[in-house]
Amino acid sequence: MSQTIPRRSLNLRRSVLSVPAINLRALEKSHSLDCDAVIFDLEDSVSPEKKEQARENLRAFFAGPPLEGKERIIRINSLSSEFGPADLDLVKALLPDAVLLPKVDGPRDITDMGDLLADADAPEELRIWAMIETPRGVLNAGAIAESGRTPGSRLDCLVVGLNDLRKETGVLPQPGRTYLVPWLMQVVLAVSAYGLDAIDSVFNDFRDEQGFDAECLQGRAMGFAGKMLIHPAQIEAANRHFGPDPAAIAEAEAIIAAFADPASDGLNVINSGGRMIERLHLVQAEALVHKARLISARKPAR
Ligand code: COA
Ligand code: MG
Repeated sequence: MSQTIPRRSLNLRRSVLSVPAINLRALEKSHSLDCDAVIFDLEDSVSPEKKEQARENLRAFFAGPPLEGKERIIRINSLSSEFGPADLDLVKALLPDAVLLPKVDGPRDITDMGDLLADADAPEELRIWAMIETPRGVLNAGAIAESGRTPGSRLDCLVVGLNDLRKETGVLPQPGRTYLVPWLMQVVLAVSAYGLDAIDSVFNDFRDEQGFDAECLQGRAMGFAGKMLIHPAQIEAANRHFGPDPAAIAEAEAIIAAFADPASDGLNVINSGGRMIERLHLVQAEALVHKARLISARKPAR
């Protein structure tokens, strides 16, 4: 029998912008952008000879004014690479909201990182995000997400990385992502089974607005919470596509009101304007209204 699944994060994760830690201008710009989360990247966007400079930039950035209203995630290099250990030391010192592990192949990667953070007495608010971007990562998506159920696990979110996955598998970049959809859905299914969020992959051609729109629509329809972005020009569309639309908010409010009516006490299914609604819709409705409130309460980025 299914045990109660912990609720998905109530954080907004519509637009998750990757900012190369080597790029000072982009770092500074992140304060003024309307994305929900920023991934400070020490991995693929930073060349080997610039890794230490990139860490230095992040030290200075985190010592400066706080990044208001956005989740802060640091993507580190693999711990098995020569750069990983120093990246992890930086994470322990800066205490972002999450550390993003690249190329996660299986649950061991998550539990090992959890042990390292626990050994360092890192506060439990420091979460783990995982890139699913290798064939083994996709095959093991269920077991990886399940590791988030272990007591004390910090796993919070899976992010699909199609650039690496295409490279590893030979699947060509084609409109509609036909041959990738089963793998994308496998990740969505995995997070749904264990109460995590999944973030859709980046879209490389940041000047192709139409193509980006289509991919956001597709990602939203597949059940992703948001999209990883590479350029500020992609933020507005991601926020629009992955945010609740007014009709969905109105419907959620109606569901909440219907169950708040004393006549619904003790009922699991009720008739709302000729449509059956179940109590299980209430949880979703409350999460949606919560996110809509977060969006409308949001201060404009400076
Ligand atoms: N985060 C914050 N600001 C960014 C940004 C990003 N990811 N990408 C671009 N910008 C800023 C630029 O600094 C520039 O700012 P300015 O107008 O104040 O000078 C502005 O947005 C316009 O940028 P543009 O000239 O269109 O692009 P670019 O040539 O500077 O950068 C890329 C293009 C692709 C190199 C850059 O967008 C980038 O590095 N993206 C992230 C790549 C990454 O993280 N890869 C790893 C994950 S897949
Ligand atoms: Mg990658």
